[in-house]
Amino acid sequence: MTGLRKLFVKSFGCQMNVYDSRRMADTLAPEGYAETATPEDADLIILNTCHIREKAADKVYSELGRMRRLKEAAAEDGRDVLVAVAGCVAQAEGDEIIRRAPTVDLVVGSQNYHRLPELIVRAGRDGPLVDTEFPVDDKFDHLAAPSATAIRARGVTAFVTVQEGCDKFCSFCVVPYTRGAETSRPVVKVVAEVERLAAAGVREITLIGQNVNAYHGTGPDGRPWSLARLLERLAAMRGVERLRYTTSHPLDMADDLIAAHRDLPALMPQLHLPVQSGSDRILAAMNRRHSCADYRDVVARLRKARPDLALTSDFIVGFPGETDADFAETLGLIGDVAYAGAFSFKYSPRPGTPGAEIAEQVNEAVKSDRLQQLQQAIDRSQTAFNRGCVGRTLSVLFERPGRHRGQIVGRSPYLQPVQIDAPASLIGTIADVTVTEMASNSLFGALAQDASQQTSRVPAHAGAGA
Ligand code: 5AD
Ligand code: SF4
Repeated sequence: MTGLRKLFVKSFGCQMNVYDSRRMADTLAPEGYAETATPEDADLIILNTCHIREKAADKVYSELGRMRRLKEAAAEDGRDVLVAVAGCVAQAEGDEIIRRAPTVDLVVGSQNYHRLPELIVRAGRDGPLVDTEFPVDDKFDHLAAPSATAIRARGVTAFVTVQEGCDKFCSFCVVPYTRGAETSRPVVKVVAEVERLAAAGVREITLIGQNVNAYHGTGPDGRPWSLARLLERLAAMRGVERLRYTTSHPLDMADDLIAAHRDLPALMPQLHLPVQSGSDRILAAMNRRHSCADYRDVVARLRKARPDLALTSDFIVGFPGETDADFAETLGLIGDVAYAGAFSFKYSPRPGTPGAEIAEQVNEAVKSDRLQQLQQAIDRSQTAFNRGCVGRTLSVLFERPGRHRGQIVGRSPYLQPVQIDAPASLIGTIADVTVTEMASNSLFGALAQDASQQTSRVPAHAGAGA
């Protein structure tokens, strides 16, 4: 090992990339790489990329232009900088990246991060290198675990990948090609990782996977466990106060998982359940394998199990063949479901996916107009959801200092950011907050005890335990 070197990792796209970036940093830490917050002083720069939409992929190339200039400036100072591209663009484009951006020294696919230490040495010594094979060994077995110090520095909430890849082949989506076939990590591995996180002070765990509710990892009994069973196991662990999971497919919303929303207090009343469109015709063209009625039925069963469930979704506008009538059905669904929020996107044809081959593409102006209408509908729904929280007392896990002095920020059970004036010593704890105000994206309030002092003359201790 040589002296300490600096590593800058930039994540694009989804939470799995955030998780993978951390595991890359953990794997490189024993090799003498310490993370830095800026690329200017880094010896190794990793761009962990996203290929989900054209814009996301384009960002990589503009970022690589910046990296080229940084690398040239460092060379003038006699410093070598290695630039690596990881993630889904790496997986999808392979050596094409080096052809387009010769500044890149290493292209590493999403299944090969455990080989980074060796790949970096080879790329530094022998020149540009591409490794995008899907290996037979499991990268998770070889990726290093974070140190307790690293866990603490990252805060009281953590992601844990439990499932990767997807077998659904929605006709717009590159994930089955970039992340490969659907695989689940064994239960014991997940439990061990969560144990380590909880022991270092993490209070909230979000299980992540491209299609997380298809989870079927091998249990300690040698049989496949469902996501519900895994959640039940984790909910019983000491220190694990809150659980979430994302992202789910409506078809895999099994009965036991719906029941878990009723039975597990640690499972937060919040669910991201993308539907993409409210039109059966478009759902069929998207190969979603469910109708709008199927989705409404899943939502009804979830709400029966957990009436206050905060639901969010993803929507795509302008999928090939989408008419005004199809789009109106999407707006109708949004009106009915009362979403707590949603992400919405213009359809972006992705090379190699069936959607990109359809002749009848929707024109850009129509897509823009529909996106605007959709976002207005979602904003109205989100505002109504947040307004419904004003006056309520919600438990909040405080995560970090707020923007202003004396302020701290946490998350409600419904995942809304909540800001209050309170001492920083509360960070890492869960406390009841009475919500007094809302903005489009967050809630404001006061500790329930303080609020009761402000609003009534009852001595503070009289309210305790209420
Ligand atoms: N174009 C637009 N949006 C897409 N998504 C996935 N692929 C595309 C595409 N080709 C959206 C879906 C998915 C989210 C992660 O990204 O809504 O749920
Ligand atoms: Fe992509 Fe999700 Fe469909 Fe899988 S289920 S193909 S990840 S949109």
